[in-house]
Amino acid sequence: MWSLHQSIFLLPFILFSLFQAFPAFAAKKSYIVYLGSHAHGPKVTDSDLDEVTDFHRGFLSSFMGSYDDAKDAIIYSYQRYINGFAAILEEEVAAEISKHPKVVSIFLNQGRKLHTTRSWEFMLLEQDGVVHSSSLWKKARYGEDTIIGNLDTGVWPEAESFSDKGFGPIPSKWNGICQNDDINGVHCNRKLIGARYFNKGYASNAGSLNSSFHTARDHDGHGSHTLSIAGGNFVPGANVFGLGNGTAKGGSPRARVAAYKVCWPPINGRECFDADILAAFDMAIHDGVDVLSVSLGGYPVVYFNDGISIGAFHAVKKGIVVVCSAGNSGPTDRTVSNVAPWILTVAASTLDREFQAFVELQNGQRFKGMSLSKHLPEDRFYPLVSAAQAKAGNVSSDDAISCKEGTLDPEKVNGKILVCLRGEIARVEKGQHAAEAGAVGMILCNDIVSGNELISDPHILPASQINYKDGLAVFSYINSTNDPLGFITAPTTQVGTKPAPFMASFSSRGPNIVTPEILKPDVTSPGVNIIAAFTGSRSPTDEIFDKRRTAFITDSGTSMSCPHVSGVAGLLKTLHPDWSPAAIKSAIMTTARTRDNTINPMLDGSSEKATPFSYGTGHMRPNRAMDPGLVYDLTANDYLDFLCALGYNQTLIDLFNEGHYCYQCSNKSVNLLDFNYPSITIPELHRSVTVTRKVKNVGSPGTYAAHIRQPSEISISVEPNVLKFDNIGEEKSFKVTIKAKGEDTLAENVFGGLTWTDGKHYVRSPIIVNYFL
Ligand SMILES: *[C@@H]1O[C@H](CO)[C@@H](O)[C@H](O)[C@H]1NC(C)=O
Ligand SMILES: *[C@@H]1O[C@H](CO)[C@@H](O)[C@H](O)[C@H]1NC(C)=O
Ligand SMILES: *[C@@H]1O[C@H](CO)[C@@H](O)[C@H](O)[C@H]1NC(C)=O
Ligand SMILES: *[C@@H]1O[C@H](CO)[C@@H](O)[C@H](O)[C@H]1NC(C)=O
Ligand SMILES: *[C@@H]1O[C@H](CO)[C@@H](O)[C@H](O)[C@H]1NC(C)=O
Ligand SMILES: *[C@@H]1O[C@H](CO)[C@@H](O)[C@H](O)[C@H]1NC(C)=O
Repeated sequence: MWSLHQSIFLLPFILFSLFQAFPAFAAKKSYIVYLGSHAHGPKVTDSDLDEVTDFHRGFLSSFMGSYDDAKDAIIYSYQRYINGFAAILEEEVAAEISKHPKVVSIFLNQGRKLHTTRSWEFMLLEQDGVVHSSSLWKKARYGEDTIIGNLDTGVWPEAESFSDKGFGPIPSKWNGICQNDDINGVHCNRKLIGARYFNKGYASNAGSLNSSFHTARDHDGHGSHTLSIAGGNFVPGANVFGLGNGTAKGGSPRARVAAYKVCWPPINGRECFDADILAAFDMAIHDGVDVLSVSLGGYPVVYFNDGISIGAFHAVKKGIVVVCSAGNSGPTDRTVSNVAPWILTVAASTLDREFQAFVELQNGQRFKGMSLSKHLPEDRFYPLVSAAQAKAGNVSSDDAISCKEGTLDPEKVNGKILVCLRGEIARVEKGQHAAEAGAVGMILCNDIVSGNELISDPHILPASQINYKDGLAVFSYINSTNDPLGFITAPTTQVGTKPAPFMASFSSRGPNIVTPEILKPDVTSPGVNIIAAFTGSRSPTDEIFDKRRTAFITDSGTSMSCPHVSGVAGLLKTLHPDWSPAAIKSAIMTTARTRDNTINPMLDGSSEKATPFSYGTGHMRPNRAMDPGLVYDLTANDYLDFLCALGYNQTLIDLFNEGHYCYQCSNKSVNLLDFNYPSITIPELHRSVTVTRKVKNVGSPGTYAAHIRQPSEISISVEPNVLKFDNIGEEKSFKVTIKAKGEDTLAENVFGGLTWTDGKHYVRSPIIVNYFL
């Protein structure tokens, strides 16, 4: 993760140099040429679609010389909503194309990452009552007939989460298919109503693909996990090797689901390619999904050089809610990805359920750890050894302390509990190396970066993970005696643990480096130790020696928090079919809470107070989101205004606007700060600024008063500070003026808030004032 900042800033430079500086080293690469929107009428025929492809070939042939060469070069022609194509091109040709006035952007078909925590790591925690309240489930009929699509590694169709027992006919608006093949076929049903795969963008990087790539079947497990969190059935008796027994639950259990497989085995750590992602978005819009859940992403880059951002733009224009993970590059600042304002961007935090396995020392100290492994063979103290002490002769203590392969001396480890430090390699792998060296158990201590975040893994030996501070105490005890002894208690499930939630340290943090005026992430939800469906293709550790198979598994990451929000978006779509994607997003955002279950402000993994840069507006509260009172709504034209304000000129705006030429950037300069977002961020305050917002009444008639929370460094006022609504759907504007109190600029960000309330609803927006020096 250390390289992330570097990569962000290098990226535009690399693209620039590709085109300008090194034409002599021209090599063919796959690119995406993005041309904006299509101007199809309401009835699109096959011949319209053929015409599009013919147009793309003709367009490219004007650069390549021959129609046939152009035809061969194009791997995807995006025909329906997204206008553009993916093609394998020489760099010079790409550079020429970029100058054409009809081209919005051209960018490399880059790989994106699945947003699971650092490599394939596994944990377990019961999922009963994660965030969902049965009253919203009831009111929203459990998401009945909402259709949730998922861009991921595909689906394990036999998983009980996708059984169609009790489901009626497929909604008639559905246009999708189950793309089938002979060997690895995915058979859809009335619950899993669609499955497609997209692999040409991947193949352009991986080379030719055998038959195992011609299926939407999930050989990885990630896609089945995320899709079942968003829309899986209730499945009682779900457990991981007998542990964590409970009911696995999707957010919208009565929704129909569809899998769009865009992720494949990693190439240089990247699994999912832009060309495939765009093809999946274009098809999902056509198929008729209501919500798209996207648990993957790359570095934050400008909106139209990014497959997810472009795809989401077109989907949201068609009324689809697009929910994406924020990324797992925390706790470093400025790492949040999927930052477009039309995306609902989700951070990850903990639940109030833990799989506790205590570490006990003979000196009487006792530390809470987490585990999903077996218990120790005997109920007695075992000798403890730090991995640094147990190092093999030919390695450094620094290498050994992480319990890497070949670093441990079996003579020093045998029959003992080995104490390892987290980091560098997968946690379950450390357990494997410990077991191979003859350890009877393992204590895994967090490093300073992972802080308080504890993960329960199905280790192959008895083990427990403890936090950074407690780890120091264990090492210090080992240092203090010649004969250190310890014990690990058998794992048990505890609910109502405190404090909860707190932010996962891996969750990517703001500020948003693409458009600092938009706070990202938007909201947080559970993403640590989540039980959901798995694949039948592999073991939970993915180690060759591990022959175990399990229908359910735990996993952590913003990949897991994202589909929780997708599931709730699905419920809101059933309950309020007329709400726009922005209204649904606003409802989820303005009703979130920033306090934990001790009524104190939510903490970061490090036990510092968390800020909106980690949780956005706070932790999602589904029950409140169904009745937010007021929403900050946005139309397709508001997004075009936003692009105008970013400096996209009329020529480019026309390309987005389906060729209708009816939208004009306003001539008075549009201020980005006035974009009607449910949070207010002022990246640079010079003495004073006034921003405008507009709220729409979606509740009963009522009178709302503004309540301000202002930090001591600034003053905040609202005009008018009372808004009276007589009707549903009525909209009212107001202005917020923010003034710096002193003359001096501040080195720190300051955080305030605005809440509109009628005594029943609380419509909360964070205010972030961020002095860039
Ligand atoms: C297909 O290729 C993958 C990756 O190269 C390989 O792991 C797999 O065994 C192959 N499958 C078949 C059916 O040939
Ligand atoms: C899980 O719980 C269910 C219901 O309480 C029970 O019937 C089942 O035997 C349990 N399974 C395991 C593996 O504990
Ligand atoms: C250290 O030596 C052992 C035994 O010869 C070997 O298995 C291991 O790979 C070596 N480790 C390193 C880091 O060189
Ligand atoms: C324990 O001893 C080792 C080796 O002397 C030292 O590096 C480490 O910092 C000590 N740890 C604590 C917590 O005292
Ligand atoms: C609009 O912007 C594009 C790309 O920056 C530029 O090539 C074009 O000339 C501009 N058009 C007008 C009318 O300014
Ligand atoms: C902006 O100005 C141009 C030229 O003066 C005019 O044609 C256009 O209608 C104006 N657009 C709007 C939205 O006022």
